[in-house]
Amino acid sequence: MMKTTRTNEANTIDWHESAFDIIRGLAAYTGSSLVEGLAKVVAKYPDADLGTAFNHKQVGSKIWARDRLFESLGGKFNHIVVLGGWYGVLSAMFFDDSRFEIGLIESVDVDPEVAEVAETLNVKAGERFRAITQDMYTFDYETSGADLVINTSCEHIADLPAWLSLLPRGTQVLLQSNDYFSEPTHINCVSSLDAFREQTALGHVAFAGSLAMKKYTRFMVIGTV
Ligand SMILES: C[S@@+](CC[C@H](N)C(=O)[O-])C[C@H]1O[C@@H](n2cnc3c(N)ncnc32)[C@H](O)[C@@H]1O
Repeated sequence: MMKTTRTNEANTIDWHESAFDIIRGLAAYTGSSLVEGLAKVVAKYPDADLGTAFNHKQVGSKIWARDRLFESLGGKFNHIVVLGGWYGVLSAMFFDDSRFEIGLIESVDVDPEVAEVAETLNVKAGERFRAITQDMYTFDYETSGADLVINTSCEHIADLPAWLSLLPRGTQVLLQSNDYFSEPTHINCVSSLDAFREQTALGHVAFAGSLAMKKYTRFMVIGTV
């Protein structure tokens, strides 16, 4: 019993060090700022839940968001605010994509544990990235002057219409939700794209669509409030 435990511990430590070396090697190979940031996060924050944030469904949903955004509104933005920004994966994906020219991304999340991880993941962006620990209901959207507001965590928000009403009329938005009702942290899922469109009630819709995953479907709308 003692021997097995020691072996497992040793394997865990070796695997973590190997993961860091592999990701750093991949960063050199790909030249990707996101992969370089990820190597730093793996080294500095071994307890961060990166397996969830970087699973293929999370990343697939964000690639979908990035591509449809580029087609709908283009790639040039002065100031993007990402709400429920978590570890800053979407921001890092924007900075890693040469189609986009972005002055500043502010990633706002109520969880005080995630800002340092998000800053590390986006370290190559320098002054163009800022992680803020704040409740999205208390953020000052009027004075922020953002030309795009992104919330891919709408399923986590108790009262989406109340939050949307805080945005200045005419603000460009990209919003995602899903029908993954069985996940306990999802307090506001919707059952269809129509239900999401009704809940968000945008003044203008540039894109509305669904992305089927194995266990659930993700919904997205892009437009203006
Ligand atoms: C699990 S994550 C993101 C899931 C989502 N599918 C994504 O990757 O875009 C949801 C995040 O929303 C954040 N969050 C929930 N309520 C919030 C609020 N009122 N203000 C800011 N962030 C919030 C949580 O802390 C968490 O980091």
